[in-house]
Amino acid sequence: MKRVYIKTYGCQMNERDSEAVAAMLLRRGFALAPDEFSADAVLLNTCSVRELAESKAVGKAGHLCRLRKKSPDFLIGIMGCMAQNRGDALLTQVRGGVDLVVGTQQAHRIPEFLEELFARPNRGAPILALDAAEGSQEEIKDHLRCRPSAFISIQQGCDMRCSYCIVPKTRGRERSRSLAGIVAEATKLAEGGTKEITLLGQIVTSYGRNLYPKIGDKSPFVQLVEAVHDIEGIERVRFTSPHPHGFGPDLIDAFARLPKLCPFVHLPLQSGSNRVLKAMKRPYTRERYLEIVNALRAARPDISFCTDIIVGFPGETQEDFEQTAELFDTVKFEMAYIFKYSPRAGTPAAELTQALIPDEVMQQRNQILLEKLERYSLTANEKLVGTTQRILVEAPARKGQNIWMGFNPQHRKVLFETPPNTHPEGQLLNLKIERASAATLFGVME
Ligand code: 5AD
Ligand code: SF4
Repeated sequence: MKRVYIKTYGCQMNERDSEAVAAMLLRRGFALAPDEFSADAVLLNTCSVRELAESKAVGKAGHLCRLRKKSPDFLIGIMGCMAQNRGDALLTQVRGGVDLVVGTQQAHRIPEFLEELFARPNRGAPILALDAAEGSQEEIKDHLRCRPSAFISIQQGCDMRCSYCIVPKTRGRERSRSLAGIVAEATKLAEGGTKEITLLGQIVTSYGRNLYPKIGDKSPFVQLVEAVHDIEGIERVRFTSPHPHGFGPDLIDAFARLPKLCPFVHLPLQSGSNRVLKAMKRPYTRERYLEIVNALRAARPDISFCTDIIVGFPGETQEDFEQTAELFDTVKFEMAYIFKYSPRAGTPAAELTQALIPDEVMQQRNQILLEKLERYSLTANEKLVGTTQRILVEAPARKGQNIWMGFNPQHRKVLFETPPNTHPEGQLLNLKIERASAATLFGVME
C-alpha cells in the first residue's frame, strides 16, 4: 500500500482541501504517512498570497528531492495556489524536478494521478493538471472524520480583483456549491457528532449570487446560514472570510436572530485610509466599515472582531498608516492577521514599483499594530476572568497531560485540566475562567 504525506501551507481553504484529498486517498486504497520520511509520495499544498510562502514551498520541494536518492520511486507533487500560479515553470524551478503539478480546481483528481504515476515502471514525464473545473462544484466534500468543529467549503474563487491580490488568478472565478449539497454534508457531519460548522470560501458573503435569487431581502448566503443553523445537532455556525461589502441588513439581522451564529466576525479591513482602500480597489470607506462594526455590536453586544490588515501598500504614507492605527484603536480588534505588503506578479498593484515602502518602515508599522493587538487581546481575555464560558472541546492540548483545548463562542482558546482517562472531546462544557494570557484562557470545570 502506497503511503502519502500531505504538507499544507497557507489558509484554512488549503487545510480543508488537504483533508478532503487525504480522505479521497484513503477511499482509493492509499495510506496516509505521518511524515515525509515514511512516505512514498509527498504532496505540498501551497500558498501564493505572499512571496515568502512561495519561496518556502519551492525550497521544501528542492529538499525533498534528497529522498529520491534513497528511493528512486519517491514522488513529489505540488498542489494549491502556487501550483496554479506557476504551473509548468515549477518543473524547472524546483531543483531535482517534480512529478505532479495540480492546480486548485483539479485537486479531486489527485488519487487518479498518483495511481497513474505509481503504476509506471520508471518515473516518466510529470503530470500537469491546471485546467478550470468543469461542471459541479461538489468535489471537495470528503472528511477524514466528524470532528467537533468542521469546515465546509461552500464557494471557491473570487471576482473582486483587489489590486494586491493573487487569489482571483490562483483560485479562479467565483463558483458556489449547491445549497442542498452543503446542507447534506453538514447533516452527515452532525450525525457523526460534529457540533460546529465553519462555512469556508474566499468571499463567502457572495455565496450563491449567480445560482439563487434573494428571498425577500435575504441574500443566498443568509439563506444558507439559516439552513445550516436549522440542522439538528449543529450547535454553532461560523463563516470565513466575508467581505465588508456583503454585510447588508439581512446579515446583520441574522446575528440578532440566529442564536447558533457565533458572535465572532472575521472582517477584513486591509487599511483604515480611504485613499489606500481606493487604491486597493476595496469598495468601502473607513466610515462604512465602522458603521458595520457598530451595527453588528448593536445586534450582538457580545460580538468580537478579527481582521486582516496589510501595512506598506505602495504609496502608504505615515498619515495613511495612522488612520489604520486609529481605526484599530476604535474597533479594538481581539484577533488580527497583519501582513507586510508583498508584490505579486500579475496583480495591478505590482506595477506600482515607484511607490514601494521600504522594508524597515513596513516592519515598524507591523510592530505597532502587533503591539496594539497584544494589548486588546489581553484586555478582552482578562475581562473574562471570573466568568463562566461555554466551551466546545476540540482536542487534547499540544502540551501537558490531561489538558484539553476548546473555544468559546467568540473563538477565544481555552485550556483546562480533566481527571485522568477523561475524554471530553466534542462536548460543550461550562468552564470557570481563572487566568488569562493574550492568547489563551485557563479554565476549570464547574
Ligand atoms: N501582500 C500582503 N498581504 C496580502 N494579502 C493578500 N494579498 C497580499 C499581498 N500581496 C492578505 C490580505 C488578505 C489575506 C488573506 O492576505 O490581508 O485578506
Ligand atoms: Fe483577494 Fe480581495 Fe478576493 Fe479577498 S476579496 S480573495 S483580498 S481579491
